[in-house]
Amino acid sequence: MTLTEIDAPHRAVVGRKIWHYDVVESTNDTLKETLAPELPEGLVVWADRQAAGRGRHGRAWASPAGGLYFSILLRPKAAHAQLLGLFLGLPLVQALRHFGVLAGLKWPNDAVYQERKIAGILSEGVYRSEVYHVIVGIGVNTNVDVDRLPPDVREHATSLKREVRMYVANEEFLDYFLGKADELYSRYLNTPVPILMKDYRGQCLTIGRRVAVETPKGTITGRGYDITAEGALVVVDEGGAKREIVDGTVQHLA
Ligand code: BTN
Repeated sequence: MTLTEIDAPHRAVVGRKIWHYDVVESTNDTLKETLAPELPEGLVVWADRQAAGRGRHGRAWASPAGGLYFSILLRPKAAHAQLLGLFLGLPLVQALRHFGVLAGLKWPNDAVYQERKIAGILSEGVYRSEVYHVIVGIGVNTNVDVDRLPPDVREHATSLKREVRMYVANEEFLDYFLGKADELYSRYLNTPVPILMKDYRGQCLTIGRRVAVETPKGTITGRGYDITAEGALVVVDEGGAKREIVDGTVQHLA
């Protein structure tokens, strides 16, 4: 395992320092294992490959060479792990668009293009030494051959390589993303959450769509109606009732 340190003092918080590894098990876990009060907020752990990349709900995140895998350490003003996971979908979509993919967000924070997933976010809240930390892990299928992803993933996945047919260096994508994420985080620190939630709603493709949402209490089918101020998805189910969903996996239906 090799480590290179990159400093970017022009940024305010997010990405001022980057630890770049060739391979780790999971960048979220590397950050979690090294968590200490002296680690600077905004630290990014980036790896070229992950041996045990993790997705939401205990799923695996295929992390072959070519993709972009990184985690950001934040110490927000409240226990906002899930909210920051939603909000960081905004710079993610900005970066994907900048590099040519007109992606949007499927609630809560999958970046999708034409119903295929191109990036995902796993945001975890951790208390350490009585301080609340958030680790926001982001995986982007940049230069990934979709055909080489595991069979169950490949039919619902896409990559920059597949859509843009042009090589985008991971450094370049990460640099652009971190610039936008740094701006977003400053806004988060200075703006009431409901205002940012409006921006999130504007990028969320799930609103207005027919959906099936797998929740811990069963599947809810209906139409995406709204996102609450706290980031929950509101679905109007087939009986016409409004159901608020805090955690689940959404499928956009035709
Ligand atoms: C999901 O859509 O299920 C979330 C995927 C998150 C993957 C990223 S890759 C970098 C970081 N490290 C991990 O192990 N997972 C996240």
